[in-house]
Amino acid sequence: MDSDIAIVPMGLGHLREVLDLGDEVFDTEVKPYTSWSLTSVAEHLDTSDRSCWVALDSDRVVGFVLGSMEFELREDWGYLEWIAVAPDMQGHGIAGRLVEICCATLFERGARRIVTDVEVGNTPSATMMTRHGFSDAATVTLFVRPNPDEAERPAEEVAPGLSVATKRTFARTGRLRP
Ligand SMILES: CC(C)(COP(=O)(O)OP(=O)(O)OC[C@H]1O[C@@H](n2cnc3c(N)ncnc32)[C@H](O)[C@@H]1OP(=O)(O)O)[C@@H](O)C(=O)NCCC(=O)NCCS
Repeated sequence: MDSDIAIVPMGLGHLREVLDLGDEVFDTEVKPYTSWSLTSVAEHLDTSDRSCWVALDSDRVVGFVLGSMEFELREDWGYLEWIAVAPDMQGHGIAGRLVEICCATLFERGARRIVTDVEVGNTPSATMMTRHGFSDAATVTLFVRPNPDEAERPAEEVAPGLSVATKRTFARTGRLRP
């Protein structure tokens, strides 16, 4: 464990660095129903029952966790939605500390369960969550059937992406992580 690293509540002043760190480490291609953006961070900050923390090395944000009591239809379940540690700071127990403080806060707020989702190939995250009290509860496989008529078209033409407004609406209703 790296005792020089302070874990503090995330504030507005950390937003830029959190966003940049997420851009650096999250591979949203593997979970196409999710995406990482300013909205996903800002909406957490805008939520009163959030549990959002950053790990600081002096003034530098080297890790963060974004959690809240907003797990779709279950009011008594918390949701640990995003966690990341800067590549050069991984392997020092920082994520473990972030998970512990995030979960402790959500349990204090009345969470009966805390949910997180991990892509099947993300061994570091799966191992880390298992070490910190999470167990595999359900596996969902995203099945995809391509339109055969679109096989010859360039990928960007086939998947132009959602408009900002649509993304925002989906994010609010829980169908898309912004
Ligand atoms: C997953 C991640 C947050 C772990 O951060 P970290 O600070 O390196 O994790 P910790 O040092 O706290 O490790 C905690 C445990 O996780 C496991 N772990 C961490 N990195 C691992 C790796 N590369 N391979 C296997 N297990 C790993 C270990 O069991 C470790 O416990 P131990 O040291 O007692 O054995 C980090 O790898 C990361 O930011 N990944 C990219 C973003 C991401 O995938 N986030 C999760 C999806 S939202």
